[in-house]
Amino acid sequence: MSQSINTNDLQAGVVGLGLMGCSITACLLLAGHPVVAVAPVPDDLKHAEDRITEHLRKSREEGLVKNPPEYYLSQVTITEDYNQLKDCSLVIECTIENISIKKSVYDKIERVISKDTLLTSNTSAIPISILQKQTLHPERFFGLHWTEPSHTTRFLEVICGDASDVSKAEFLYELSHQWGKEPILVRKDIRGFITNRLMYAMYREAFYLVENGYATVEDVDRSCRNNAGYFMTLAGPFRWMDLTGVPAYHTVMKDLFPTLNNDTSVPKLIDDIVKNGGRGVANAQGFHQYTEEEAKLWEETFKEFTYEIRKLALKYPADVVKKKLDKKNNLV
Ligand SMILES: NC(=O)c1ccc[n+]([C@@H]2O[C@H](COP(=O)([O-])OP(=O)(O)OC[C@H]3O[C@@H](n4cnc5c(N)ncnc54)[C@H](O)[C@@H]3O)[C@@H](O)[C@H]2O)c1
Repeated sequence: MSQSINTNDLQAGVVGLGLMGCSITACLLLAGHPVVAVAPVPDDLKHAEDRITEHLRKSREEGLVKNPPEYYLSQVTITEDYNQLKDCSLVIECTIENISIKKSVYDKIERVISKDTLLTSNTSAIPISILQKQTLHPERFFGLHWTEPSHTTRFLEVICGDASDVSKAEFLYELSHQWGKEPILVRKDIRGFITNRLMYAMYREAFYLVENGYATVEDVDRSCRNNAGYFMTLAGPFRWMDLTGVPAYHTVMKDLFPTLNNDTSVPKLIDDIVKNGGRGVANAQGFHQYTEEEAKLWEETFKEFTYEIRKLALKYPADVVKKKLDKKNNLV
């Protein structure tokens, strides 16, 4: 590892205890870190402990860990007091996607932490080079982009901004293996990082197909689930092309690429939903129609699915073939 931190007892801080802050806290606790979880708004205190406990309970029920929630909860301090972050070697900011709010949070964090502490943001889309300009020590600032639910998914992007010290990012990259991640190191800042650039290209095309009458929302969803959905836990686009024959893709690209949508405006379909207050299953108002009960059941079904897909994913790590070869050659 490129940084001299004892990772076994590394104390981590999470600031912002909404949806993601709670699952990130659970992930760090399950990995054995003591965690200081800071609530920047009093509302967080109403739900944070219950949400974290529920993640820990379910993780035990699903066999991810052997210990009961109390074992991990003894390692977490949930507080409104930023001073409690003073001994943390790593702090993860997880507040709403708003630069001035994030800056006000960094001011409070940096008043307390030591200058060696790594400061990171779970921002979905704000460039790290912009966020790090809001801090006193931009070289120790990185994006740590998780995906929900953070304690079961193996996705994590470690992102450098223009002023980041790449060796510290390499340390975070190594460390995150202990959190059950198969991380991605983004060495140069780019808007949307890696995953959102890929996903938003798909979202844009999905809107194009629906808005122009080629298919319904239901059909587009079914197409993704039953095509990409069948291989993407094992293979990314490049492995997929290798598996299914590269020349065919070469041929199709020539004719298909010029016809793909490259509109730069926000599609009307999503604009209308958001302007009418739609948030998706959270308030039963999204692209699909839901009764309150159906929306709640979708939320529960998604939760159930994340544990199921995790079991399958664990059987197929990135080095699955190397492991098979090692076994065949009696190297393990
Ligand atoms: N939801 C996702 O799937 C997802 C995925 C990747 C990244 N992210 C990013 O993670 C961050 C948090 O997202 P979330 O989904 O947990 O959101 P959330 O709405 O559940 O939580 C937001 C949190 O922001 C904090 N907050 C709200 N108002 C504040 C204020 N005025 N001052 C200080 N703090 C305030 C609170 O702690 C609140 O709980 C965002 O940057 C988001 O883009 C979210």
